[in-house]
Amino acid sequence: MRNQIAAANWKMNLTYQQGMSLLQTLVSADISLKKNHKAVFSVPFPYLEMAIATTRNKEDYFIAAQNCSDKKSGAYTGEVSAEMLKSLGVQYCLVGHSERREYFGESNLMLADKLNFCLSFDITPIFCCGEALVTREANKQNGYVEQQLRESLFHLSKDEIIKIVIAYEPIWAIGTGKTASTEQAQEMHAHIRSVLKKQYGEPIAEQISILYGGSVKASNAKEIFGSKDVDGGLVGGASLIATEFVEIIKALK
Ligand code: PGA
Repeated sequence: MRNQIAAANWKMNLTYQQGMSLLQTLVSADISLKKNHKAVFSVPFPYLEMAIATTRNKEDYFIAAQNCSDKKSGAYTGEVSAEMLKSLGVQYCLVGHSERREYFGESNLMLADKLNFCLSFDITPIFCCGEALVTREANKQNGYVEQQLRESLFHLSKDEIIKIVIAYEPIWAIGTGKTASTEQAQEMHAHIRSVLKKQYGEPIAEQISILYGGSVKASNAKEIFGSKDVDGGLVGGASLIATEFVEIIKALK
């Protein structure tokens, strides 16, 4: 059975104190998770240690970084390496969020390096992909996402690819209040799985969790997560509100 994951992405929001109080509320919330359910919190770098400590007693809660460097170590002022994250006990890392691609010029090839570093330090990458509105309007989204997967992931071996999580996030649905319809999400998730199947075979493709991201909230999570190939969500805005995120975790199938 594939892992079903509710992943929060705080982005550059909340103070340290607000973040700690949000996590404390979520840790004490009464949520009964199934064996294959996980909650992941992608928090700003300076909060990682606090977040790990705050969620220590919750075995289904994991902490993620929102980014890591594509370099191993050295004279890269302001960067944070996968090895540093590992040394703090970080278990997951977002790789290639569309905001990183768009505002910080991250390319598919650079993301391939980031994935390699995460995997070599035993950090589970959550690889983000997804098309912009113009691409969707031209009905070119399938080829576009396939190329993102091919250029960033397909150098990985079978043993490596099963360690990653994919998040499909159509850019036009991020922070816009506009969600992909259940059909649009399922269609793309099935496409991603078929691309993985062609490259790695069915047993591997069936094991990889594919999350949906883009304006997921308490009121639509159950419907979106209900689709066959949608294995949970990567959630921005709604993950900053405890009552919302509790319901999103509870919506995992
Ligand atoms: P959103 O963000 O839920 O606020 O749309 C999702 C994301 O960017 O990961």
